[in-house]
Amino acid sequence: MTTGDPLVLGVDQGTSATKAILVDVAGEPVARASAPLAQRHPGPGLVEQDGEELWRSVLDAVSACLSGVPPGRVAAVGLSVQRESLILWDGASGTPLSPLVSWQDRRGADLCARLSASGAAPMVRRISGLPLDPMFSAARAAWLLGHHGTRDGCRLGTVDSWVLSRLGAGHVIEVGSASRTQLLDVRARRWSPELLELFGVPEETLPRVVPSAAPQAHADAAALHPSLAGVPVGAVMGDSHAALFAHAAGRPGRVKVTYGTGSSVMGLAGPDAGGDEGLCLTIGWQDGEPAYALEGNVLAAGATLTWLAGVLGTEPEELARLAARGRRGAVQLVPAFGGLGAPWWDDRAVAVMAGFGLDSRREDLARAAVDSIALQVGDVVAALERAAGPVDELLADGGPTANADLMQWQADVMGRVVRVARRPELSALGAAHLAGITYGVWSRRELSGLPRHGRCYTPGLPVCERRRALAEWHSAVARARHRTS
Ligand code: G3P
Repeated sequence: MTTGDPLVLGVDQGTSATKAILVDVAGEPVARASAPLAQRHPGPGLVEQDGEELWRSVLDAVSACLSGVPPGRVAAVGLSVQRESLILWDGASGTPLSPLVSWQDRRGADLCARLSASGAAPMVRRISGLPLDPMFSAARAAWLLGHHGTRDGCRLGTVDSWVLSRLGAGHVIEVGSASRTQLLDVRARRWSPELLELFGVPEETLPRVVPSAAPQAHADAAALHPSLAGVPVGAVMGDSHAALFAHAAGRPGRVKVTYGTGSSVMGLAGPDAGGDEGLCLTIGWQDGEPAYALEGNVLAAGATLTWLAGVLGTEPEELARLAARGRRGAVQLVPAFGGLGAPWWDDRAVAVMAGFGLDSRREDLARAAVDSIALQVGDVVAALERAAGPVDELLADGGPTANADLMQWQADVMGRVVRVARRPELSALGAAHLAGITYGVWSRRELSGLPRHGRCYTPGLPVCERRRALAEWHSAVARARHRTS
């Protein structure tokens, strides 16, 4: 870290941890820290987190990252957040009135099914840009208001709203996160009266929609750490959106995938993109004009490894080693633990393991779990191609990109090049980059020269083998879906 030059703090509040990085004037991370965050599973399909624990994990990560940094060095803070999760709190006291109900939680499934049966899905998609699904916040908002009351002064918000409220920003939501609630008119960028009525959400319980850059003038980072007094919050972004920003995937044909608990495949697009391919029209960020993106979400990626590791009594990291010794295609796993996301959006799909034999071994199961991540991502990339034109490169980030075997399989099943981000913390980096642009630490032009990608994987699987692998996979997907019909 060079003495004296300004730094930008990037904070990524994710599902399983909060990560913080310090970014130098060259736009590169020079320090990092992380604090874990627990999830609770109080019943089938229910996933909750604690709002106070979440705030504590943000403070712990920031404090560890700033250790030894003299006051005055940090010029701006950028925040990226897990999206769609929702919490209710008391506006006067700032006390949570509910748990944070996670984006993985399925308690809104019945409401979505009822609305779908009543024919509301096309209207929801037309206005919000999103398929009617309990992954998004709207059905969760209806549940929270129904079970924790709509008393005066109660406030609903996503993770960015919750953290910003603790930073004195009032009741606000960043426009990209708002576009994932299923309550926003995605093209008008304001709450939709039709969607609020459909889900029974009073507008006064919702935050004010603000841009991603300089989202709220009076937010002060002092609440994050005493040395940040007077430091502005320069940017707030959804985590996937921030990763797309950090990849600089600005030209057609480049799409990014973030491998996390789930996976997000995303590319920039126009406000009218989407169509019938099971993709989401989302606002990536707003810094002046809004940047729209098409996104497909895989619901279980890292979550599949965590689950299987638990079943096998091992650690997720060990699964990669086991998988390397497993037979590819011997077993198929479709990890529809909470239904299937893009491009199928089948809420009633169930997880299946197919192809078991008496000779099946734990290594084969590990192989199936790891391979299912790439196969699901490949399906979304294919849908993006149908919706928005050819994809020639997939830009990859997230922990699993360290698994060379997975990355090679990703290139092989898609028949496309995969380039891996040089830095692991892309969401925090994207938010820091936008915050630094907003506060003049660097210009977009200066950042455009930054080397972003390292290892490159070129597809090497013969076409006939690729077709066979995809046919076997799709037959397993059909079983996952067929069993519920
Ligand atoms: O849409 C949910 C997503 O934003 C969560 O991301 O990285 O916390 O799994 P992550």
